[in-house]
Amino acid sequence: MNPNILLSNLLDTEDLTTSQLEGIFKLASHYKNNKNCNLDPNFKNKTIGFLFYEPSTRTKGSFYQAAQKLNLKILDFSPSTCSVVKGESLIDTANNLISLGVDIFVLRHKQSGSALFLSKNINKPVINAGDGMHAHPTQALLDAYTLLENFNSLKNKNIAIIGDIRHSRVARSNIYILKNLGALVTLVGPPTFLPEEISKLGVKVTNKVEDVLDFDVIMPLRIQKERQLSGYIPSLSEYSKFFGLNDTHLSEINENSIIMHPGPINRGVELSSSVADCDKSVILEQVSNGVYIRMALITILLGGKVNE
Ligand code: CP
Repeated sequence: MNPNILLSNLLDTEDLTTSQLEGIFKLASHYKNNKNCNLDPNFKNKTIGFLFYEPSTRTKGSFYQAAQKLNLKILDFSPSTCSVVKGESLIDTANNLISLGVDIFVLRHKQSGSALFLSKNINKPVINAGDGMHAHPTQALLDAYTLLENFNSLKNKNIAIIGDIRHSRVARSNIYILKNLGALVTLVGPPTFLPEEISKLGVKVTNKVEDVLDFDVIMPLRIQKERQLSGYIPSLSEYSKFFGLNDTHLSEINENSIIMHPGPINRGVELSSSVADCDKSVILEQVSNGVYIRMALITILLGGKVNE
């Protein structure tokens, strides 16, 4: 199998074609279903550099697993213990790591646009692992992959994303892919949490969770506790009362519908424990699938060969 997908970086999902999405998913399935497949022997000579300027459990953990499964060497860079604390810039840091042999970077950064900025200033591929409020493409890809495992096709599937869409890099990246694959996306939240550019996104909007309980997919997002201090919502308990998924909602959700969440979850805020842990929840499937999606992306960006 030759992935044959032209990608020099992965910065967002907006420009990914349907055929590129299908190629990424096909390769992820290859890795998932052939645990002992032959890997590109060149990968043993390649090094992946992790630049995580923000905390991460799922994304960093699964990039680690993906890189190790591909036999790559990992150079893990932790800003708090490196020369960033002495004022070294992002570009200087990356160029120094390139001198140490890094072939591809995974960047998480609080600044929107940082992944694009880095990609324009170095000559190695960059994978955006979440940049500020802008994009989280690998999360959106693993979400879509998990959906396709559950539904085969997303054409005309009703998908609700609930919560702080305005500040969510996950929501933005998801909307582009889901619409590309033919899904019908509805955003749910208080007006302060809906993005200003909503009319350009081609999505529906509602302020009532009850409107989406019969949807195929319900995806609450993490309420970023720091936001409530900025006056976007009056209080967490009020948000939870009007927009949190709870035990009463659970009984109204369709039998074949699924509940997703990118994590980390705030139990008792955007969803109750009984919702998070119910048999409709695919939250931990999402996490597992992240490894295979990231293996596929690293392979494509390194121009790796895949032997069947
Ligand atoms: N979903 C996600 O990005 O989780 P982490 O912040 O733990 O990586």
